[in-house]
Amino acid sequence: MTVTIGILGTGHLAGFLIRGASGKGYRFLVAPSRGAAGLAGPDVILTDDNQAVVDGADHILVCLPARDGVAILRGLRFRAGQSVLSAMAGTRHGPLAAAIAPATGHCTMMPGHANAYGAGPSLLYPPDPFWHGFLSVLGPVHPFADEAEFVTATAFGALSGASFFLMDSMVQWFVQNGLPEPQARRLVAETLLGNATVVLNETATLAQITPGIATKGGITEALVGVLAKEGALEAWHRALDVVLARVRGNS
Ligand SMILES: NC(=O)c1ccc[n+]([C@@H]2O[C@H](COP(=O)([O-])OP(=O)(O)OC[C@H]3O[C@@H](n4cnc5c(N)ncnc54)[C@H](OP(=O)(O)O)[C@@H]3O)[C@@H](O)[C@H]2O)c1
Repeated sequence: MTVTIGILGTGHLAGFLIRGASGKGYRFLVAPSRGAAGLAGPDVILTDDNQAVVDGADHILVCLPARDGVAILRGLRFRAGQSVLSAMAGTRHGPLAAAIAPATGHCTMMPGHANAYGAGPSLLYPPDPFWHGFLSVLGPVHPFADEAEFVTATAFGALSGASFFLMDSMVQWFVQNGLPEPQARRLVAETLLGNATVVLNETATLAQITPGIATKGGITEALVGVLAKEGALEAWHRALDVVLARVRGNS
């Protein structure tokens, strides 16, 4: 059976999620927009406007701009029995629920592009079987019963985006030092993927794992030593503090 989901906001994120869910039993109602033209496909049905998207589905996924999204939702009519999942960064459950009443609301956060490959983790607050099932076709799902924990976890959205800049910086270093770009790109990505596999599978803590990796006097110790001296590792904490203040609504 094919399940219909209405999508409000048809930009980059909507495109990634539609790609990731392609052929997995979902079809998507979307409203006309500049972005909608690029989403044409067998699973995508174009409606007249945002209200037609809401009227045509019991489940609505919100990928609108974070700044105006809740205000846009306030201008639409929802009905009892509908369920709305907001993927907008910084959305809190209270304002969302008020905007879409009498429908029920849920919040998520995901990396976006990795979800097109079924490999992006998604957060879900509060837990819900329908949205859990949908998000699980796009990658692993982390349900949260506690909103404060969920909000803290949403900082990973920025971490995810920043990881592309980190990878780009590493790739460019290898290129500047003579490696062909395609090879540098594969080497960096495969290294991080391999080490992420270790972290996901080993039961030992990172503090137990790292002594076995950074040989005394070796090149890892040299690299980490310079990064620590420059404050580069600690800078990630300071940068994430800025993101956390934003997602908590403190700045
Ligand atoms: N990009 C990601 O990887 C990612 C990851 C996680 C979360 N998010 C969240 O997802 C949301 C969308 O991000 P995005 O990167 O996809 O942004 P985007 O590419 O700018 O897409 C936003 C879409 O919303 C549409 N829109 C604007 N006002 C509208 C309205 N009144 N009615 C209907 N549609 C309207 C835009 O229409 P036009 O096409 O006509 O401009 C555009 O298609 C944001 O809240 C962001 O925090 C994004």
